[in-house]
Amino acid sequence: MKVTIIGTGYVGLPTGVCLAEFGNKVMCADKDVSKIDKLKRGEVTLYEKDLEELLNKNLNSGQIKFTSSIKEAVSKADIIIIAVGTPPNPVTHEADLQYIFKAAEEISPYIKDNATIAIKSTVPVGTGDKVEMLIRNKNNDVKFDLISLPEFLREGYAIYDFMNPDRIVVGTDSERAYKQIQALYKTSYYKEKMIKVSRRSSELIKYASNAFLAMKIQFINELANLCESVDADILEVSYGMGKDSRIGNKFLNAGIGYGGSCFPKDTQALSYIAKLNNVKLNLVDETILGNYLRIKQMANRILDAVKEIKNPKIAILGLAFKNGTDDCRESPSINIIKEILNKTNANISAYDPKAMENAYKILGDKIKYAKNEYEASENADVLVILTEWGEFANIDLDIIESKMQHKKILDFKNMLNYKLVLEKGFSYSRIGRK
Ligand code: UGA
Repeated sequence: MKVTIIGTGYVGLPTGVCLAEFGNKVMCADKDVSKIDKLKRGEVTLYEKDLEELLNKNLNSGQIKFTSSIKEAVSKADIIIIAVGTPPNPVTHEADLQYIFKAAEEISPYIKDNATIAIKSTVPVGTGDKVEMLIRNKNNDVKFDLISLPEFLREGYAIYDFMNPDRIVVGTDSERAYKQIQALYKTSYYKEKMIKVSRRSSELIKYASNAFLAMKIQFINELANLCESVDADILEVSYGMGKDSRIGNKFLNAGIGYGGSCFPKDTQALSYIAKLNNVKLNLVDETILGNYLRIKQMANRILDAVKEIKNPKIAILGLAFKNGTDDCRESPSINIIKEILNKTNANISAYDPKAMENAYKILGDKIKYAKNEYEASENADVLVILTEWGEFANIDLDIIESKMQHKKILDFKNMLNYKLVLEKGFSYSRIGRK
């Protein structure tokens, strides 16, 4: 199967590499020529576990190719997957579809007969109808099917999730297109995971899934607040809840609020769609508000810990929106830092194993960037853990203690060994537990 991916971002690139690994002939296209040049050389443009290895393997075997020419990418493809960004409109928060429409327009003249065009980007209900119309208006002669093929992979686990999906949702009423997608995934393992639904349902499944997961996180974060007030332990509560198979144990980790390029954007976009259709999605709206307030609450907790100190020095561990990625888009950690900087003249020194470069693009010289956890904690009045990188669980508390001005740790990812931290004489505070 010859497949083309338009867009080589966090979804497009792993998708292309995995489909090549499945045995398809993949061509990835992107406007960014320097990005394409890097990828041609086997250099990854984003951090994702196993990506570089699989990219090089498939480059060497010729299964995957890169181009910045839409004509070259599209003219021979059986399947064209659109995986460009749908960033939020800064005012209305609706999904901005300009890149989708542009891609549709550009591929129009080169689509070959009986090709399937799949929208993998997260798009509002009805986008498939608009894109189909746009292409038909541009090229009335070609026969094609336009389907919805949403992606459910998580950043940091992109390759694993793509290879081990819970489900593959295919939004189409075309039996021909459905068969083509089945052929793309090759084995019966994947065919059994496929769900064929209408294009509109498929578009909504994606938003509904992300909003539901975000809601689950907001719920457990609110419950963590209650645990702190009634002296219960959020880890025990979520463990006990998660044992009910109707609830499940995933996405019940209390923390500093959800972030990333998807949950904040998709909850807002879903809320916008509902309002446009005069439907109330109160739970989604409360989730959005609750997550916004969570950032403020966490920033206040940090400021409270240093309120006696004149020009406090705050050490931050973790800048990425979660572990396993270098992505800082809508990172709660970055938003907390911004909130602190808005309110005080605190000195912030931060460290993240992967996200320093991306954090610098957002925060610039407003904070200091440390080489490691120990440099960050030099003379610090408080040490705050904001991203759950495994290495933070194993920090040497003796070194940290020797570096810090005041022995105070705010562990907002509940990572450290409680007994050990107290034994070393730190004042210690966590989320939803003593
Ligand atoms: C999310 C979804 O999980 C994917 O299924 C979806 O494909 C993707 O969005 C997307 O729409 O493209 P991702 O944004 O990579 O994936 O990150 P998640 O692992 O879902 O985490 C999102 C945020 O929630 C992070 O800030 C994370 O720290 C937070 N989180 C997650 C919690 O605070 N608690 C949890 O229990 C789980």
